[in-house]
Amino acid sequence: MEQYKELLTQAKAAMAYAYTPYSNFNVGAAVLTKSGKVYTGCNIENAAYGATNCAERTALFKAVSEGEKEISAIAVVSSSGEFTYPCGICRQVISEFMKEGNLIFENNEGEIKVIPLSDIYPYSFTKENLISD
Ligand code: THU
Repeated sequence: MEQYKELLTQAKAAMAYAYTPYSNFNVGAAVLTKSGKVYTGCNIENAAYGATNCAERTALFKAVSEGEKEISAIAVVSSSGEFTYPCGICRQVISEFMKEGNLIFENNEGEIKVIPLSDIYPYSFTKENLISD
């Protein structure tokens, strides 16, 4: 749990860099790699709204682009103060790089939720599904 609290602290720090002129909804994420490194990310919006990148994918893509392809946990917080869960696209992207692991959330009351990926995203689409015969 101490490691998860530290991950939440880093996610909160990353939220300060959110670029959200359109929604004013700031999100911060921090991924823990299997090798023990932490990569953080924030959401980055765009005037062409569809080009927006969520905080979870920012953090994950930073890790993968530095050679870290195995993730064991991801912490997510937002400026809403409520538990903020990843969108469908982020769940799919997380599942690509986290075979088993936990998603960590905190609200403004300081309550923490730890949810296994298999609970939040069962029946994911995987590379095994691409094999057709
Ligand atoms: N957003 C995230 O960054 N992560 C989530 O888990 C939910 C949504 C961002 C995308 C957009 O910048 C803003 O929150 C509102 O949808």
